[in-house]
Amino acid sequence: MTASTLPGHPFIAYREGELCVEQVPLASLAANHGTPLFVYSKAAMLSALAAYQRGFAGRQAQICYAMKANSSLAVLQVFAQAGCGFDIVSAGELARVLAAGGDPAKVIFSGVGKTRAEMKQALQVGIGCFNVESTAELDVLSEVASAMGRQAPVSLRVNPNVDPKTHPYISTGLKGNKFGVAHEDAVPIYLHAASLPGLKVVGIDCHIGSQITEVTPYLDAMDRVLDLVTEIEAAGVPIHHIDFGGGLGINYNGDTPPEADALWAQLLAKLDARGFGERQLMIEPGRSLVGNAGVCLSEVLYLKPGEQKNFCIIDAAMNDLPRPAMYQAFHHITPLQLREGAQVVYDVVGPVCESGDWIGRDRALNVQPGDVLAVLSAGAYCMSMASNYNSRGRAAEILVDGAQVHLIRERESVFDTFQLEHLPA
Ligand code: LLP
Repeated sequence: MTASTLPGHPFIAYREGELCVEQVPLASLAANHGTPLFVYSKAAMLSALAAYQRGFAGRQAQICYAMKANSSLAVLQVFAQAGCGFDIVSAGELARVLAAGGDPAKVIFSGVGKTRAEMKQALQVGIGCFNVESTAELDVLSEVASAMGRQAPVSLRVNPNVDPKTHPYISTGLKGNKFGVAHEDAVPIYLHAASLPGLKVVGIDCHIGSQITEVTPYLDAMDRVLDLVTEIEAAGVPIHHIDFGGGLGINYNGDTPPEADALWAQLLAKLDARGFGERQLMIEPGRSLVGNAGVCLSEVLYLKPGEQKNFCIIDAAMNDLPRPAMYQAFHHITPLQLREGAQVVYDVVGPVCESGDWIGRDRALNVQPGDVLAVLSAGAYCMSMASNYNSRGRAAEILVDGAQVHLIRERESVFDTFQLEHLPA
């Protein structure tokens, strides 16, 4: 049998001219479950996780999957069963972790706008750490915890002011971003946190951005954070864990991020050299654990030749795959079955009534209406960002495990999308 895997997608391959995820031909999934359809490879997720686990071998380290990347319950279950904690940003995400069997003690709660109700719920179930982003939030969290007779474990998100060299919308660690506290204000804010009755300082965290494909920004951020740990501890506040924020970028279009274990070899060498090798370490990877484990299948509805552009109109749209519209992001698009003959250059677009509803521009394809395309690298920040815009129900999701196929989310019906609405009498 001939098989050729796609670059960066070791579990997605053409076998005898048919695109497969692990051992399952995608055409059969599209035929049985309809399109648009998200399909994830369990082996790809576990293999991506294994690179981080290898990187941390022999260290005290906790990997907290940043579930905003893909919060489907079955995906969370895969990571919970593999021993991961979770990085959450809302009570909704906390509820999902619990529903999927995740351990609340391994949950860290990030985000600039936690409500009192969310803090209370997180304290009730005993999460591992609140990653706090402002002095005002520290005060409120201390108040909420004190009223419950508790002490909230806290880490402060400090802004290392390092340029991650990524898209401005997903760059978070620069001055002028809404996130974290400024590096130069960190020591007094730590002293303030340590003085509050409802808080127990346990760590420090930072997050410089997402889809980072170079090592240097991580190393620079680590240096800045370690400088601070030294200063904070000299001021009398012990820091038990150091959390380096999000994970690596992925290969969308020839991107060459380092492997997780290779990155960690460099980071750990620096930690050791600076005398911090024994600390409890944490990382919150999202995209790199799921991004290239997923594809979105979509049927070609119409081909529309034009004077300036040819359009290939598919049944997935910006509500299903928002990244191109939001970040001008590139996703490879490839047919499930390869046809003989000439390719034509198309803009691949969805049915939503906006010019921004494109999935790929200037793509050479040999397709006919009825063919099914796979949009690659669709495991992260696609389904979790999907909406009902244009009153489109959200797609179904499949988890493939070897030759096994699990329907992990049913297609949302139009009725589902009406359910919470009322017509005034
Ligand atoms: N930790 C924190 C505090 C974060 O804000 C993020 C992502 C992560 C961890 C996970 O980062 P990752 O390992 O996935 O790079 N929707 C955008 C990405 C937004 C990322 C926001 N924060 C996209 O589709 O590119």
